[in-house]
Amino acid sequence: MSRAASAASAAPDASAASAMPVASAASSAAPAAAPGPLVEIAGLCKQFGPPSAPVRAVVDVGFTIARGETVGLVGESGSGKTTIGRMLTRLTEPSAGRVLYRGGDAPVDLAAISLRRYRPLRARIQMIFQDPYASLNPRLRIRQIIGEALDTHGLHQGAARLPRIHALLRQVGLDEDHAERYPHEFSGGQRQRIGIARALAVEPEFIVADEPLSALDVSIQAQVINLLSDLRDRLGLTLLFISHDLDVVEYLCDRVVVLYLGRVVEIAPTRALYDRPRHPYTRALLAASPTPDPALRREIPLLEGDLPSPANPPSGCVFRTRCPLAEARCASHDMTPRPLGDGRWSACWRDE
Ligand SMILES: Nc1ncnc2c1ncn2[C@@H]1O[C@H](COP(=O)(O)OP(=O)(O)OP(=O)(O)O)[C@@H](O)[C@H]1O
Ligand SMILES: [Mg+2]
Repeated sequence: MSRAASAASAAPDASAASAMPVASAASSAAPAAAPGPLVEIAGLCKQFGPPSAPVRAVVDVGFTIARGETVGLVGESGSGKTTIGRMLTRLTEPSAGRVLYRGGDAPVDLAAISLRRYRPLRARIQMIFQDPYASLNPRLRIRQIIGEALDTHGLHQGAARLPRIHALLRQVGLDEDHAERYPHEFSGGQRQRIGIARALAVEPEFIVADEPLSALDVSIQAQVINLLSDLRDRLGLTLLFISHDLDVVEYLCDRVVVLYLGRVVEIAPTRALYDRPRHPYTRALLAASPTPDPALRREIPLLEGDLPSPANPPSGCVFRTRCPLAEARCASHDMTPRPLGDGRWSACWRDE
C-alpha cells in the first residue's frame, strides 16, 4: 500500500475542484474576506545572476489558489518550484509580476508591498521548508523555538503555552520530551517535523509546503500527510504543496500546476490530470512516476536527458528538445497556457 493510500481517508473531492480563474472552493474563511481566490499569481518572473547572463528561473507564471484549496506544484528538480514558493512568502524578491493575496481586509500585492507592510501577514502565510535545519536556531531548545512563534503572535500564552507546544510535537509524531532538546539532537526527519510544528503553531491560513515529506521515513510521511490533510479540513487551511511525489500530490491536492523550466505547462483538477494528462511533459512525468498508469507507461516514452539550462533555454516551447512529439512549429510556439475548458490549461499547441 502506498503512503498516500495508507493515510487517512480525508481526501477532498478532487473532481469538485474549481477552474482557473477560481470561482469558489470549500472554505471556512471569515465571511468578511474579499471575494475571489486567496492567492492570484500573474506574470511572475524571477531572474538570478547579472542582466548580461540571466538565469531565468521562473518565467511568466500564473495560477490561482482558492480558499481552502490545496494546489500541487510539480516538476523536475530545477524547474522553479522552490523559487515560486519563496516569492509567495517574500523570502525571494520577484523580478516581475503580481501575487494578489486576499487574506486581509483588502487585497494586497505581495510582490509589491514593503517588508514593513508584509509583517502583519507573516502569521497568516507560513512556509514549511525542504530542510528546516538552517531556520532552527541551534542555541534554542525546541520549546523556545516553537514558543517564540507563539509569543510573536500572542497565542497560547501563560499556562496554555507548554501544553500547546507538547500537543504540536505530538501532532507531528514527536514526543513531549523533545521540547527540552536542541535542534542538533535530532535526525533530519525529526527536524523537518519541528519545522512543521513551528509553522502550524501560529495557526496560519496559507501554507507553502516545500517538499515537506522528503526528509521523513515512509511511516512518518503518512502521519504528516494525515496531519496536513486533517488541519486543512479542520481549519480551512489553504496549501501550496510542492512535491516530487506524484502519489502524494494525487492524494492531497485539489488541483495541480505542472512546471517545466520555470514555465507552467499544464494546470488541471487532480483527478482529470491523472486520468488524462494533456501536455506531453505531464504525460512523461506521470509515466515516469513510481506507480504509473500502465497504459500511460506503454504509450509514452520516459523522459530522457536533463532539463536544459535556464540560462540558455530553447526557443519557443522549451520542452521541445525532450518532447517525443516535437515538430518544427514548436520552435516558435508561445508557451502561454491556454484554457481547454473544465478548469484545464495547457501550454502545448496540440491542445488548442
Ligand atoms: N539564489 C540563486 N541563484 C542563482 N540561481 C538560482 C538561485 N536559486 C535557484 N536558482 C536556479 O533557479 C532554478 C530553479 O531552482 P529551484 O530551487 O526553484 O528549483 P526546484 O524546482 O525547487 O528544484 P528541486 O526540486 O531540486 O528543489 C535552478 O536552475 C536553480 O539553479
Ligand atoms: Mg526545491
